[in-house]
Amino acid sequence: MSRRQLSGAVLAGWLILISSAPTALAQEKAERPLYERLGGVYSVATVVDDFIERLLVNDILNANPAIKEARDRVPKAGLKFSVTALVCQVTGGPQQYTGRSMKDAHKHLNITEKEWQAMLADFRTTLAKFKVPEKEQGELISIVESTKKDIVVATAY
Ligand code: HEM
Repeated sequence: MSRRQLSGAVLAGWLILISSAPTALAQEKAERPLYERLGGVYSVATVVDDFIERLLVNDILNANPAIKEARDRVPKAGLKFSVTALVCQVTGGPQQYTGRSMKDAHKHLNITEKEWQAMLADFRTTLAKFKVPEKEQGELISIVESTKKDIVVATAY
């Protein structure tokens, strides 16, 4: 290869590198929606099912008479359906949540900080059980945390 041919090849190489760099960056940024990374509706529903089963037998939660009353009154299949639809929607899935706002759904339950922490502990146990990757666990916990201001209303009951 002559010197001229060589410098032409080097230049062509650089041009390819420079022109492909933005595409590589864009691909890195365009992350798949959390909903897809979790595995879609069947995975979300499975996680919600396990999580709600834990909440229903959580002694800290059932010591609150308002939560206990709702536990005995509300069909758990419906609750699981609603929570699944909500989680799917907020993680980027095609489902639509049509239930009440978090404030309206929980205001009569007088949920305390202690109960909130008990719920989070159950949530972490469920996420670990299904080996949800750390990054996705963090994103799900942030979503749950974002509802805390609408759900925790009492410091004691
Ligand atoms: C300590 C925390 C929580 C407790 C004890 C709790 C308990 C309950 C109970 C007992 C109900 C039924 C209320 C009724 O119909 O009278 C309910 C409804 C619901 N909760 Fe929670 N919850 C908690 C946190 C959360 C969080 C973090 C989410 C979602 C991010 C959530 C999503 C929902 C949804 C979607 C409904 C159904 C609302 C409807 O159908 O209109 N909850 N919750």
